[in-house]
Amino acid sequence: MTRQTCRRAAASLAAVAAILGGFRGPALAADPPGLAHPDRWPAAHSRGLTDPKTEAFVTGLMATMSLEEKVGQLIQADIASIRPEDLRDYPLGSILAGGDSPPLGAPDRSPAAAWLATARAFRAVSLETRPGHTPIPVMLGVDAVHGNNNVVGATLFPHNIGLGAMHDPALMRRIGEATAQETAAAGIDWAFAPTLAVVRDDRWGRTYEGYSEDPQLVAAYAGQMVAGLQGAPATWPALQAGHVAASAKHFLGDGGTDKGKDQGDNLYDESELARLNAPGYVAAIEAGAMTVMASYSSWQGVKMHANASLLTGVLKQRMGFDGFVVSDWNALGQLPGCTNENCPAAINAGIDMVMAPDTWKGLYRNTLAQARSGEIPMARIDDAVRRILRVKAKAGLFGPRPWEGRLDTLGSPQHRAIARQAVRESLVLLKNEGSVLPIRGSAHVLVAGDGADNVAKQAGGWTLSWQGQGNTPGDFPNAQSIWSGLREAVHAAGGMAELSPDGSFRRKPDVAVVVFGENPYAESRGDLATLEYQPGAKTDLALLSKLKAQGIPVVAVFLSGRPLWVNPELAAADAFVAAWLPGSEGGGIADVLVGDAKGRARHDFTGRLSYAWPKFASQTRLNRGEPGYDPLFASGYGLSYRRPAALPALPEVPGSPGGADPVPAAGPRP
Ligand code: GLC
Repeated sequence: MTRQTCRRAAASLAAVAAILGGFRGPALAADPPGLAHPDRWPAAHSRGLTDPKTEAFVTGLMATMSLEEKVGQLIQADIASIRPEDLRDYPLGSILAGGDSPPLGAPDRSPAAAWLATARAFRAVSLETRPGHTPIPVMLGVDAVHGNNNVVGATLFPHNIGLGAMHDPALMRRIGEATAQETAAAGIDWAFAPTLAVVRDDRWGRTYEGYSEDPQLVAAYAGQMVAGLQGAPATWPALQAGHVAASAKHFLGDGGTDKGKDQGDNLYDESELARLNAPGYVAAIEAGAMTVMASYSSWQGVKMHANASLLTGVLKQRMGFDGFVVSDWNALGQLPGCTNENCPAAINAGIDMVMAPDTWKGLYRNTLAQARSGEIPMARIDDAVRRILRVKAKAGLFGPRPWEGRLDTLGSPQHRAIARQAVRESLVLLKNEGSVLPIRGSAHVLVAGDGADNVAKQAGGWTLSWQGQGNTPGDFPNAQSIWSGLREAVHAAGGMAELSPDGSFRRKPDVAVVVFGENPYAESRGDLATLEYQPGAKTDLALLSKLKAQGIPVVAVFLSGRPLWVNPELAAADAFVAAWLPGSEGGGIADVLVGDAKGRARHDFTGRLSYAWPKFASQTRLNRGEPGYDPLFASGYGLSYRRPAALPALPEVPGSPGGADPVPAAGPRP
């Protein structure tokens, strides 16, 4: 039996096992790879999603729906590939705006009004009264993953890796609330957030979308973020209270793939997979998460999107998830025996809504035929439709939209203040020798580096475009660069600040702040082979060293989506701050770095690493309890003005003696 046929057999066995109602029998002598045992996972239950009144409403609605309309609810198209009038022939349940999809008839970088018009255009057609048509509002979803980041003018919060360094669950809820308001105001019903990845290998291009490598921190945040986005169940329908539906993603084990390969294979055994990833989903489900997005990745060689033992057995039965599971973008085409237009196996495994951005027509036709033939049992179709309509009811799609059109909420001073507090709390001080920090406000400060006056760089991926690239200063009307924040703070204290990206100057400054780091990326385009920063072309190190050689104290502000091997840069700077991807509020960095005229700190550092920091570039998996755990800075590390400390010894070479990729806890290999 070839590897492929073995996997296919395993997948179908997993599907059968789960469809039998959550396989609870004793583990088979040699369980096939990828078969989960729900009774080995924590039990949970969705809060607030089902009640007799809502279920009766859904039952009544379903009684009027044709099979075409039921199948339509299971399919989601992307706004770049569908027109509102198409919904008359294809009664789809949902529309998304992918990271690079512009609003209808508008530039891809547009303010909220264009997004609002787009949402209203699709919704209007879905609600038309037509003979034989049951008006059911289409559900609009976007990747509002650090604010409503598709929209020009929206508040951009720090990406999740920085939020993890805050260790502040209460602030997470406020961030969720502000994000929801700016999303609902633009006519959108659903945010594809929070990401609950527990990231185990920092080569992964989505490391920054994770809060931490620590499952307990992810769990502490999950419930708060879901509650912030959706509101507490007692406040539902969500939209009426300025909230939107959330999507806990990507179920499950997306951050634990071998070598950090995006959409790769998670090789952990079942107990480790559960220990790491269940806490976040239990917290999200108990907070009432309305949707869960499945992961592209595999577990022991079985694609998550076809794994009934996890999607149905664990998530829906054992964890009592009553919302709906949405697939990821064209993920079905990756499954054995499937294409993006044709994949009954995924729906039978437990996918309720298929994100079929540009393949929705073929998928509609094929799924309708499979429903008619019984290849997809009608009970499965009805279960998926019920879950989707239940969520639409709880999210408030059938009711008024008092927040829609309140475009003044986007980038409001209140929301920007929340984001600025998050920036302050996210900063982690890794080095501060000679008390270079805090900078005396009355000093002469040179601000250098290509990240100094560059909001696009400080915002990172998933910003106005999928990769966060191609953005210009004019695209950020409600944002402040790090340079602008530093200038404001220094001038307010009677000092002088000048911007010089290449570090040149006429009059020697008292101190130099160099802002540098990773350029924006998203998903697999951010996957790395090594954690060494700027391997082979250390231009930022050259800038730090040039300033240092002129006797100028140097403060490094490092923008990154993950910990990287920066020992030479750490050695060259007098102070080193991990600033992650702070978003629109660059002023938050000056709040902490620049003191008053006498040099007294205005805000202290409180941030602590939520990911371990490597001593060697080969230390890509640095997780407590796993082989090779010997970080330069352990997770939880962070200095402050009150708690200074000397820098540990810095190996000057990237490679570790014999450093190899320690494998995760041994699990059955496919
Ligand atoms: C992407 C991502 C997912 C996102 C979806 C829609 O590929 O994996 O996180 O929500 O597609 O943009």
